[in-house]
Amino acid sequence: MRSYESRYRDLTPRSSALDERARGLLPGGISHNLRRFDPYPLYAARAEGARVLDPDGNSYLDLWMGHYALVFGHAFPPVRRAVEQVLAGGWHFGMPVEAEVVLAERLRRAVPAMEKMRFCTSGTEATMYAVRLARGFTRKPWVLKAAGGWHGASTDLSFAVKPPFRGAEGPGLLPPREQGVDLIAFNDVEATERVVEAHRGGIAGIIVEPMLGSGGFLPADPAYLRYLREVCDREGAVLIFDEIITGFRFRYGTLADAYGVRPDLTTLGKIVGGGFPLGVYGGRREVMDAADPLQAKAPDRPVLVGGGTFSCHPVTLAAALATLEALEASRAELYPALEARGERLRRGVEERFAAAGVPAACTGRASLFMTHLLRGGDRDLRTPADLAAKTFSAAKDRELRLALLAHGVFAVHGGGALSAAHGEPELQVLLEAYARAAEDLAREGFEQG
Ligand SMILES: Cc1ncc(COP(=O)(O)O)c(C=O)c1O
Repeated sequence: MRSYESRYRDLTPRSSALDERARGLLPGGISHNLRRFDPYPLYAARAEGARVLDPDGNSYLDLWMGHYALVFGHAFPPVRRAVEQVLAGGWHFGMPVEAEVVLAERLRRAVPAMEKMRFCTSGTEATMYAVRLARGFTRKPWVLKAAGGWHGASTDLSFAVKPPFRGAEGPGLLPPREQGVDLIAFNDVEATERVVEAHRGGIAGIIVEPMLGSGGFLPADPAYLRYLREVCDREGAVLIFDEIITGFRFRYGTLADAYGVRPDLTTLGKIVGGGFPLGVYGGRREVMDAADPLQAKAPDRPVLVGGGTFSCHPVTLAAALATLEALEASRAELYPALEARGERLRRGVEERFAAAGVPAACTGRASLFMTHLLRGGDRDLRTPADLAAKTFSAAKDRELRLALLAHGVFAVHGGGALSAAHGEPELQVLLEAYARAAEDLAREGFEQG
């Protein structure tokens, strides 16, 4: 056994014991596949700021930050106060509340393209409803999605997420084409055009992340997004930008607005919910109004969106408003600081891996980063196909993850998301841990799969 694995086992007996119990109850011992890793997942007990504690009392510098949702760090006091205040008055009514109007007003100010919106409880629902709106508004069948893109695990979009980027993500799903979905190659205009051509006249919408998230933190070329905009204009199709990771991550608003490309629909989640379950989908008034029960005229019915016993949950709304208020107040300092720290971290991690003799490249932008272990000297990583061909994609979530854990850092995909709680001291701790982890990998090797 490698030394970092035995160190992990020595430090985390309670996580191991919990995993033993969990595996008999939950398939794989987890409720989200990403949380599983070998030999067993790390359990969280509590967290504050940039640190998370496991049930054995070990403290880790956290880069995962709740699936990238916590831009102010764990247990952010303004969110806690806002939530406590709501709890005092009852927390679930199944009736509209003032906070949902206020949140919608605030979001529309930050993201003018979201002329109308609805709230749900997850990003998965938000993207599911967005593609349904696209089909319902256009009355066309085909939705195009980027190979390597992850939009949640809904039946509509669980296709070609992982290499070899073909077909359904597992049994239980129909082949994509039977589901009205075809795949486009991210950042590749020519290949995308061939798929567009094949569905000419039948395209309801195109859904894409302006920066692939779990697909590798690969930013879209602005020219690619402009091309998708043109295709949708030409085809009368709905352009959907999934900004569930990127929304409010790089600026107070969306990445689309930074790129100057206006989608018809936008989906948000993660950061906007302040650490509570939230999905948002919204955009052009005419598209959203296709779901308006007040405007549907017989015999037509509105596009069905917006189920959910817990949609617009008051606790989430309070957390969301507190987060957006804090973001708006601190945006001028926060975003440039996160960007500068992220740049230094990416460069610093690459340097430390190079010094250890393990070729690695960091993808990402501003506060988001992933570390990819390279197969050779080619570090040009622009597409999911590049990552599959040029990097050891499994090793970053196996050996690298354990090596970082053994040095006190919790990372997913070899990196994660910096928050406002990751200041200069945390940056130094991170760089030191990556240096040690790189040395471990150089000394003990890793499976080259
Ligand atoms: C880009 C993107 N879209 C959608 C989702 C699904 O969101 P949720 O996990 O809240 O259902 C995710 C989750 O990671 C995501 O990264």
